[in-house]
Amino acid sequence: MRRKLVVGNWKMNGTRTENASLLSEVLRACEAVTALPADIAVCAPAPYLAQCQQLLAASPVAWGAQDVSAHASGAYTGEVSAAMLSDFACRYVIVGHSERRAYHGESNELVAQKVQHALGAGLTPIVCVGETLAQFEAGQAQAVIGAQLEVVLQAALEAGRRLGGLAALVLAYEPVWAIGTGKTATPQIAQDVHAFLRGKLAERDTLAADKVQILYGGSVKPDNARELFAMPDIDGALVGGAALKAADFMAIVGAAG
Ligand code: 13P
Repeated sequence: MRRKLVVGNWKMNGTRTENASLLSEVLRACEAVTALPADIAVCAPAPYLAQCQQLLAASPVAWGAQDVSAHASGAYTGEVSAAMLSDFACRYVIVGHSERRAYHGESNELVAQKVQHALGAGLTPIVCVGETLAQFEAGQAQAVIGAQLEVVLQAALEAGRRLGGLAALVLAYEPVWAIGTGKTATPQIAQDVHAFLRGKLAERDTLAADKVQILYGGSVKPDNARELFAMPDIDGALVGGAALKAADFMAIVGAAG
């Protein structure tokens, strides 16, 4: 049985003060229950990773980044390397988010390089895949997502079993048309894609396919989380807007129980 994982993607939001109050509310809610029904993490903007480390160390909430460089080190102004993220004890890093793909021209190949660096630094990449509305309407979702995943699986296998191979990944299906739009994929649409992704993993490694958590992302809210989590291949959520409100975020975590 895979444990559920709920990850907040704060995107480019927050201040030191707002983060402190959000996290203290999240921690209070965690302390109020004897056992959390899911693993929890927040992916913060890079400048706040030290704050996350300070406030969340010794808590059940893990933290991570929203992107990582495709290079190890050197003259790459503005970039943050996987080793730097490890330096702040990040467990996770989101890779290939649709906003990075759309606004920063990230190709499948670049995403795959980032995955390799993340794995090499001992981070768990949360690899995002998803189709646009036009692709969805043209019935191309599986072809697009399959192509996005293929390169990443190859890269993870090349990174080697020493680094956990495919089992070291977390996947996230985020249909672009559902992000920040209030439109969620129906649980069945999401389940079908998740089953497709797990099938792709299983073609390469059946044990890993059984282990890898596949998250759904796109307008996940307290009132739709439970029906999504009831699907056999939906192992949690990557939450944007609702992760900025502690009560909503924790209600989504609670829906995993
Ligand atoms: P929303 O939950 O705001 O739709 O964002 C989803 C997302 O992009 C998470 O990575």
